[in-house]
Amino acid sequence: MEMPKAPINPQKIVVFSGAGISAESGLKTFRDSNGLWENYPVEVVASINGWRNNPELVLDFYNQRRLDAANATPNKAHLAIAELEKKFDVVVITQNVDDLHERAGSSNVIHLHGNLTQARSSIDPGLIYDIGSAAIHIGQTCGLKSQLRPNIVFFGEIPYFLNEAKNHIIEAACVLAVGSSLVVEPAASLLKKARFHAAKTLVTLDVDKVPFGFKLQRGKATELVPYFCQRWLSAGKFTNT
Ligand code: OAD
Repeated sequence: MEMPKAPINPQKIVVFSGAGISAESGLKTFRDSNGLWENYPVEVVASINGWRNNPELVLDFYNQRRLDAANATPNKAHLAIAELEKKFDVVVITQNVDDLHERAGSSNVIHLHGNLTQARSSIDPGLIYDIGSAAIHIGQTCGLKSQLRPNIVFFGEIPYFLNEAKNHIIEAACVLAVGSSLVVEPAASLLKKARFHAAKTLVTLDVDKVPFGFKLQRGKATELVPYFCQRWLSAGKFTNT
């Protein structure tokens, strides 16, 4: 017997973000031209095998990402999403490893792919340390004496909080996806859980496939996101875009 679905919460919005939302803060995306994966082989710097083969290179790569993120500031899109909390129940589900949503003021942010400001043990994923913008070096160890690594999900590993994220999307009256190519699984498939009656929008510059039921709004995050957020705040409810 199928379980009845959770009721939709009319005040709830889930924002699902990707690298494109931080592009106008000066952080590179992954797959746009001159994106990170054009300049660094993903299997070398961001996979579990890459970590095993050359941990120093992986640490260097993420040490630089951490510095770049620390020097960036939240943009109008991050800020507009934080403002939504004035009237709505907002959950941000992000694939990003920067903390620009938090620094913009969002209070409920789920990082599916981890967080640059944390290091973790390479043998116990539960041993996590806040490191801010500091680098991780070879020889720095966790409490169990194993090498520290970035608290980042490598290719070949399972994203964090998938179930929690899915449950939020199921309840949302509005799902706003921003700045993602939606090619990385299983994160991208979370959008399939959005309800038929939810207002569903994808803001991005370019995407191969728009998820079922989503309206594509092609444009810059800093222009379109504040526009839609303001509309919803003025109306006090979510309308289709
Ligand atoms: P991608 O680099 O794959 O996609 C970025 C998307 O943002 C593209 O669709 C761009 O068109 C769009 N974009 C760029 N600038 C924009 C702007 N100013 N306004 C709006 N949209 C803009 O990044 P993600 O989809 O986030 O995972 O990539 C997903 C995952 O792949 C990342 O979390 C990372 C990466 O490998 C891991 O490292 C595990």
